[in-house]
Amino acid sequence: MKRIEYIYESDTHKWMAITRDPSKLDHIIDTNEFLIINSDNKGLLLDPGGLEIFPIVFSSISRDFSPDDITHIFSSHQDPDIISSISLWLEVNPSIKCYISWLWTTFLPHFGGDDTTYIPVPDEGMEINHGNVNLSLVPAHYLHSSGNFHLYDKKAKIFFSGDIGAALLPKGQSDLFVRDFESHIKMAEKFHKRWMGSERAKKKWCERVMELDIEMLCPQHGSIYTGKNVRKFLEWFYALEIGYA
Ligand SMILES: [Fe+2]
Ligand SMILES: [Fe+2]
Repeated sequence: MKRIEYIYESDTHKWMAITRDPSKLDHIIDTNEFLIINSDNKGLLLDPGGLEIFPIVFSSISRDFSPDDITHIFSSHQDPDIISSISLWLEVNPSIKCYISWLWTTFLPHFGGDDTTYIPVPDEGMEINHGNVNLSLVPAHYLHSSGNFHLYDKKAKIFFSGDIGAALLPKGQSDLFVRDFESHIKMAEKFHKRWMGSERAKKKWCERVMELDIEMLCPQHGSIYTGKNVRKFLEWFYALEIGYA
């Protein structure tokens, strides 16, 4: 079973982090899922993961929230560890809508769904409302997918950064939050060098994200950066030479 923790709670909404499965098999990369629950008790699930881990994600969420009430999915990009579970989520709720870059809307139906399932996000990003919660979909193209978005919650000051900020943690290392930045970032370096291919896109993304007020930067793999570690991460990434490993 995965751990579930609330990383933000207010009168309008809350964020559930679904992380760390001690029973996960070694040949599958570990992932974090996040669920935004609005005051109408409707869920928006961020990067729900692959079909292989669907049962564990579903049952972990079910301990505290009815998965039938997940009405929307946000998919940062098209990778199997991000969104290959979509067909199983559509069996839970056939009317689920999934935000994804317009670039991928004719590719994702290979995983499942029909012509009403996917909401194309334009290259410049967009504002969305999940009930009373306003969220921004922020462009992150070429980092690493050619059609790639992150999600910013201005009120909660949470930035969901998909594969950016990802770290491959050793087995048994289960910290939800980054504790020691210097040792943590060593586990992120190779990943970023190999998976992030565009220096120009990286600099533009860093400059844009440095403008935002962020308390927590939540990647899809590894631990969450909080407080000063958010800025440290952005400065580290800005300076990192990428495109090789
Ligand atoms: Fe990816
Ligand atoms: Fe990933």
